[in-house]
Amino acid sequence: MEFKTLANGIKMPMVGLGVFKVSPNKTKNYVLAALKQGYRLIDTAQTYKNEKEIGEAIRESGIPRKDIFITTKLFLPDYSFEGAQEATKRSLDIMGLNYVDLMLLHHPMADYLGAWRGLENMYKEGACKAIGMSNCFPNTIADICETQTVKIKPMINQVEMHPFNQQNLNLKTMENYGIISEAWAPLNEGKRNIFKNTILTKISKKYNKTVAQIALRWNIQRGVIVIPKSDYDYQLKENINIFDFKLSYADMKEIEKLDIGHSEIVDLLNPKFVKYIHNFKY
Ligand SMILES: NC(=O)c1ccc[n+]([C@@H]2O[C@H](COP(=O)([O-])OP(=O)(O)OC[C@H]3O[C@@H](n4cnc5c(N)ncnc54)[C@H](OP(=O)(O)O)[C@@H]3O)[C@@H](O)[C@H]2O)c1
Repeated sequence: MEFKTLANGIKMPMVGLGVFKVSPNKTKNYVLAALKQGYRLIDTAQTYKNEKEIGEAIRESGIPRKDIFITTKLFLPDYSFEGAQEATKRSLDIMGLNYVDLMLLHHPMADYLGAWRGLENMYKEGACKAIGMSNCFPNTIADICETQTVKIKPMINQVEMHPFNQQNLNLKTMENYGIISEAWAPLNEGKRNIFKNTILTKISKKYNKTVAQIALRWNIQRGVIVIPKSDYDYQLKENINIFDFKLSYADMKEIEKLDIGHSEIVDLLNPKFVKYIHNFKY
């Protein structure tokens, strides 16, 4: 496993396990299976409703807590100075943990700056080892980092990033502010027929790897952390075994040609989506 070092010196594994849409009754075994395969980063959220089972899996695994990196995320109803602090404590209670490694604000909407100040407090108290944002475009990243009342810059921005939606300006902006990028849906949720893509298939044959491994490795070489999700043990194994080869400069460039410059999963800028998020019940 390779690690990225966050702005505060904390080390974060570069491959992790996504648990979005994993039902609570399957979560514990899913996480235990992944931990057996060597996964040490788990990505959840309050909205995923499986934090409790993740806590159970960690305890049952017998792996020292310090060797596992847990990320969770807060959602809009808790976005205020007080609310973010209460919600952080709620996550810790539900998971049965003393701290999370990384707490993110799921979307930069509503009173996210108020919530951010709450997270700064939780960070200072040790309830979160690191704090960050999710779903920020470059303008929002710059806005947060330039805001005088923001005392601690986000250490991570977790955004959709894969060969079809590369977000190069976002990546550059994060680099400029010392923020590490983390890719959700690093396999584009299987959309655009990614696993049969001609360019990725050609490259995969050259390295004797699968298309999934090529897509994930491409992000790793851009310095981006990936958190793919899979229901199958053999795919979980595949997705973490991406450190024994290196894509050439020419192949990295070839993959750059696949960028369509926007998401086909969710249009974060669409007012209907913003309204949906504001009214989302979980
Ligand atoms: N911050 C946010 O707003 C946000 C939004 C979305 C997701 N996330 C996080 O990011 C994680 C990953 O995103 P995601 O689950 O949406 O999408 P993803 O990881 O890009 O794609 C998952 C899909 O790829 C398939 N797959 C995985 N590994 C494969 C392999 N080696 N070969 C072939 N197919 C493979 C899975 O199929 P099978 O399951 O059938 O194997 C599943 O259909 C989530 O679980 C969540 O933790 C965060």
